[in-house]
Amino acid sequence: MCGIVGYVGSEPCARLLYEGLQRLEYRGYDSAGLAVHDGTEIHVLRAAGKIERLGRALAERPLPGTTGIGHTRWATHGRPNETNAHPHRVDGVALVHNGIIENHVELRRRLTAAGARIQSETDTELVAHLVAERMRGGLDLLAAVRAALAELRGAYALAVLARGEPGRIVVAKSGSPLVVGLAGDAAVCASDVPALLPWTRDVLALEDGEMAVLERASLRVYGPDGRAVDRPLRRIDWSPVMAEKAGFKHFMLKEIFEQPRAIEDTLRGRLDRAAGDVHGDEIGLDPALAQSVERVHLVACGTSHHAAMLGRWYIERLARVAANVELASEFRGRDPVVGPRDLVVAVSQSGETIDTLVAAREARERGAAVLGVVNVVDSAIARMADATFYTHAGPEIGVASTKCFTTQIVALLLFAIWLGRRRGTLPAARAAELVEGLARLPAQVHETLRATRQLVANLARRHADARDVLFLGRGPSYPVALEGALKLKEISYVHAEGYAAGEMKHGPIALVDASVPVFVVAPRDASYERVMSNLEEARARDGRVVAIVTEGDEAAARRCEAVVEVPACAEELSPVLTVLPLQLFAYFVADHKGTDVDQPRNLAKTVTVE
Ligand code: AGP
Repeated sequence: MCGIVGYVGSEPCARLLYEGLQRLEYRGYDSAGLAVHDGTEIHVLRAAGKIERLGRALAERPLPGTTGIGHTRWATHGRPNETNAHPHRVDGVALVHNGIIENHVELRRRLTAAGARIQSETDTELVAHLVAERMRGGLDLLAAVRAALAELRGAYALAVLARGEPGRIVVAKSGSPLVVGLAGDAAVCASDVPALLPWTRDVLALEDGEMAVLERASLRVYGPDGRAVDRPLRRIDWSPVMAEKAGFKHFMLKEIFEQPRAIEDTLRGRLDRAAGDVHGDEIGLDPALAQSVERVHLVACGTSHHAAMLGRWYIERLARVAANVELASEFRGRDPVVGPRDLVVAVSQSGETIDTLVAAREARERGAAVLGVVNVVDSAIARMADATFYTHAGPEIGVASTKCFTTQIVALLLFAIWLGRRRGTLPAARAAELVEGLARLPAQVHETLRATRQLVANLARRHADARDVLFLGRGPSYPVALEGALKLKEISYVHAEGYAAGEMKHGPIALVDASVPVFVVAPRDASYERVMSNLEEARARDGRVVAIVTEGDEAAARRCEAVVEVPACAEELSPVLTVLPLQLFAYFVADHKGTDVDQPRNLAKTVTVE
């Protein structure tokens, strides 16, 4: 998500850090900042918006010193403004952080009660307070950071300076990436390799639980038990462009493989496994509304609309509220019946899509409450909505949405569980099963991607010349079929249709012949037998059937040209797994054709025109 750089050496470092941050710009951010130690004092400079603003501020007010840390922030907790930008300075401590601190609410409460004056809305500032508190208690920086970490739950990569310890940076990592390295007489650190490449190619990726102390020409790494560990540096031979993509050929492929982590971040702090429930604090809706709401309208565009279709299914099934889903552009144009007993859920990765924004705003003007399910903090929909449930997928650079789709599904399922429990329509045991299933999901996503990548790449080569491709599914697999078709169209420019499998014989079956690949999304669920009949219909017309099935489905394997297996899971969770091979298929077809995968023709990442 955010970017970190750190430098301790003999050169004045503010410009070096700034250039390091520029090399992390591709990751997306909404504010940036630097803290530089001049040997006596720590100076902090921060700016909201584009990094050039920080550059201009730095030109006006150079920061002297040879030890410093820098950060580009992509907001997760709190608006993207200067106060929330990193580094956060508390007393003599300056700190930058990537990740999400799960127990930020309790920490804020505890620190406030202890008299801390907290300036920002961020979870990060709380960590700076914890470190400063320990240093006031007499600990040195390394010990103070270690003691503060013991109070944290969540994910972090941290880099910390202390006024009383010039020439030293302490870093720590758990869950979020952090690399350290030596560059001549400097020790350096960053969240991502590209920031370091002009300085050094000899780096070491810290493991979870590890900390390191960086000093001029010195790097000491400590294991989770606090003992020094001897870890060799590794030579990176990636080009700078490869490094930006973490070695992946395209951002889209990188983002597909980021899904386990992205989903983990969506779930972070929201599952109450002990109670088999979902923590509602962050949803921000009045629990009374859960009881009183009579109808839910989900509005969205494109991929987000497919996630919203699943949202409707979850809300009706688990919370027993009548729900409808509609393309935002159609909803706003048809003078819909909405009022004070309705809830409108606006689903949008960017939070800026004009049709979704206007549809939700118009519904709000008619008295409906609006919940945004959004990835970008403080985006237009988030600002307009009564409450926003963030997906926390991190910035998505590829125009074709992948990790934002699966995290939207997860967020909508969390919301439906929350609603169902408050309405008394979702039995505790069923909620607990879903919560456990969600907790297992990141590992299953990881495993599915690992196990299917090569198989799907081969399938893509085999079918790359197809003129038309059909995608079929029923129930929760129908939006997945639509999404599979949309992905293929967007990036490979192959004509593809997603259909409800039951609609086949009402028209699209006329398209099927031996030249048409037919992808059937058929996990073992309540629709399985009926989907298999539809699969037979396609087979009987010589369609080249590829099925996405639950592992071990030998019957399906015997009937199809190829099957791609995904792990068994609850019916509600299967879309998150079955869509993965379809994302990979679209990617590999496009790559085979040599299209511009990350920036397909005619498309924009954020659609702010009607
Ligand atoms: C997805 O791959 C597309 N690029 C597009 O359909 C997108 O989902 C749609 O424009 C909605 O965007 P939003 O989620 O930012 O509102």
